[in-house]
Amino acid sequence: MFKLLVTAALAAVGICQYSVPSNSTNSTAPATFSNPIVGAGADPWMFRHDDYYYLTYSNNVNVMLYRSKSMTDWEHAESKLVFAPPPGLNYSTDLWAPEIHNINGNWWVIFTADPLNDSPPPEIEMWCEYNCPAVHHRMFVAVGKGDDPWEAKYQFKAELDTYDQFAIDGTYFQHKNQLYHIYSCWHRQYDGWPANLCITKLSNPWTVDSPFSERQIISVPEYPWEKTPFGRASNDRLSSNEGPQQLTNPTTGQQFLIYSAARSDNRNYCLAQLELVGDDPMNPGDWRKHPYPVFYQNPSESAYGVGHASFTTSPDGTEDWIIYHGMQDPTNGWSARSIRAQKFGWKEDGTPDFPKPGYGPYEVPSGQ
Ligand SMILES: *[C@@H]1O[C@H](CO)[C@@H](O)[C@H](O)[C@H]1NC(C)=O
Ligand SMILES: *[C@@H]1O[C@H](CO)[C@@H](O)[C@H](O)[C@H]1NC(C)=O
Ligand SMILES: *[C@@H]1O[C@H](CO)[C@@H](O)[C@H](O)[C@H]1NC(C)=O
Repeated sequence: MFKLLVTAALAAVGICQYSVPSNSTNSTAPATFSNPIVGAGADPWMFRHDDYYYLTYSNNVNVMLYRSKSMTDWEHAESKLVFAPPPGLNYSTDLWAPEIHNINGNWWVIFTADPLNDSPPPEIEMWCEYNCPAVHHRMFVAVGKGDDPWEAKYQFKAELDTYDQFAIDGTYFQHKNQLYHIYSCWHRQYDGWPANLCITKLSNPWTVDSPFSERQIISVPEYPWEKTPFGRASNDRLSSNEGPQQLTNPTTGQQFLIYSAARSDNRNYCLAQLELVGDDPMNPGDWRKHPYPVFYQNPSESAYGVGHASFTTSPDGTEDWIIYHGMQDPTNGWSARSIRAQKFGWKEDGTPDFPKPGYGPYEVPSGQ
């Protein structure tokens, strides 16, 4: 509110610093916004459909959907419970990283969950190198039928087969009419850290088509910035590749997989990039990994632990935006995460050109 008044005052004396874009659809809407756009939350998934932005993110207990006409104002958003699991099942607790994809006319909710808050019994725990929670995390799918993600009735569909092995942060990846599941996985069932990126083929949004022998690992934490703690030379426990997201260059059609590296509870969490340079996503050699993170902490603005992104566009479709979580106080771990939005561009070689993470104020998305 203070910033609005200042802008109005400056405009009145003719030295306006921010101007409302001339093609804005609402001349009384604020010209700028500041991060975070949601004060507490992680693993944001945002998409635009008709006149609304839709947002969901991890809350551990269920899948909530929010909608707003503004990409950057969620204080006045409507909310709706999409899916709440019954107790006592394999997907009753720790619901993480929900995403809602429109595939063949229906809305597919893909999410991570586990039974009993991630507590493996001792006979399983003892196989771990040190202490490995998360052995029971798996991927699940719910579906909402119909054109409208808000009116659709959602119900549980199935577990997405990951061969009874650790799986989190799964997403759909589409290439040449083939649907894939890309998720964070271990090498083995019980002692498998680090967390890598795995890919399998799907015959539909809830059915895996690949036998275990065809599952491929397309990225492992290999660079110092992907390891936890930073640069750790041995024992990859807790080093992670996770949160994969498909990103397509709208001009060149180049396909990227933007993923999160290091670990989500500390300042080094960052975004990294694989580019599909061949034609077969199931062939690890067809992916080219960028040797440095593409979006990472910015201490000069106290923006730490930035990662787990999704991508959307401005209301008029002219701008690409990244929605991600980050921390202002990196010593507070997972509870410090909040949700942010920033515009990004594209480099001459067609790769995404992400900004430095910060708090703004930034110009609102074009057309908002
Ligand atoms: C609206 O503004 C954007 C930049 O803010 C510009 O790229 C676009 O061409 C404009 N559209 C129209 C119809 O003027
Ligand atoms: C324009 O923006 C203002 C401030 O955000 C909002 O209250 C109003 O409802 C918007 N009007 C339209 C037509 O969207
Ligand atoms: C629940 O998970 C366990 C361990 O992964 C598995 O053996 C069991 O078949 C699952 N139950 C159902 C109903 O899928």
